[in-house]
Amino acid sequence: MNYLKTKRVFFLLVAIISIALQSCGGVPEETPSTAASDKVFAVAEILTLIAEENDITRTLYTKGIVGAGKKQGLKFDEDWQDDDVEAGPLPALFLRGISSDIRKSDIPLGLYLGSDFPINASNKFQGKQAALFKKIKATQEPQHFFEEDQKLYTSMFADLAVAAPCVNCHNDHENTTKTDWKLGDVMGATTWQYPSDSLSYKEAIGVINAYRNGTKAIYNAYLKEISEFKIDSTKPTIGNKWPSKGFYLPTAETFVDSVRKLTSYKSLEKLLLADNVTEDKETEGLAAN
Ligand code: HEC
Repeated sequence: MNYLKTKRVFFLLVAIISIALQSCGGVPEETPSTAASDKVFAVAEILTLIAEENDITRTLYTKGIVGAGKKQGLKFDEDWQDDDVEAGPLPALFLRGISSDIRKSDIPLGLYLGSDFPINASNKFQGKQAALFKKIKATQEPQHFFEEDQKLYTSMFADLAVAAPCVNCHNDHENTTKTDWKLGDVMGATTWQYPSDSLSYKEAIGVINAYRNGTKAIYNAYLKEISEFKIDSTKPTIGNKWPSKGFYLPTAETFVDSVRKLTSYKSLEKLLLADNVTEDKETEGLAAN
């Protein structure tokens, strides 16, 4: 049996159990300081893992909720939180909701969605990110770098026009700066930032949880908005059915559960198998012995 893999599984289980116990309030406050040797993941690995979860979440929301929901008469709007607007969040605002929920947590993870031809001028890439976005457009390859100004490790990933609603809505929008987006285009990029170059298991799981909690929070905010719609006939039935089946919306649990089913296997594999910092150090150590 592979010694390194066994050790990694052990560390991962310890981390999961300790986080579970802490969130139940079962363990006293004390958190041992993270020793350098516990920093088993390079930051780019974890930002890549979370960007992949985000792609799946975003596609599920865009196709399964916005795309299918519109056919049932659900509305989605920039001003979805206004009292007199009875609508849900657009995909970009769903993502911003996740991002602001993460910002409220104590996990120092940053998330931003930008473009070179944005609808909202404040989403236009500037400086180094604008230069690297050109590369992403050409190659669709992610870019990992250290943002000197903010002193943050940064990873940018292509945001693709994965579904017809992306293209149609952007081309037709009154504030659009480009009217010929096509399916499959790189419409923008998600920028992820973290303050250190490596993470422990516990920190990695903290990042994943912060992202997943953010998804749940913005989805719940949408359901709360619906509960305040004034006309009953505009309220879909909320349960375990999706809009593709009729005038329904999944509960937050059903939505998050679907995301988890699609992401967890891959994320866990990455946590277990990532070619990470410790392994390099240990291999060097073993070779020296
Ligand atoms: C129903 C309309 C609608 C749909 C569907 C939609 N968007 Fe957007 N998108 C917007 C609006 C409006 C904004 C600006 C939101 C804001 O104020 O930041 C935006 C923002 C963005 C941005 C940030 C840059 C900008 O344009 O401001 C990107 C990138 C983006 N969307 C890509 C996508 C992709 C990819 C999809 C499909 C997965 C998608 N959008 C689906 C309306 C839409």
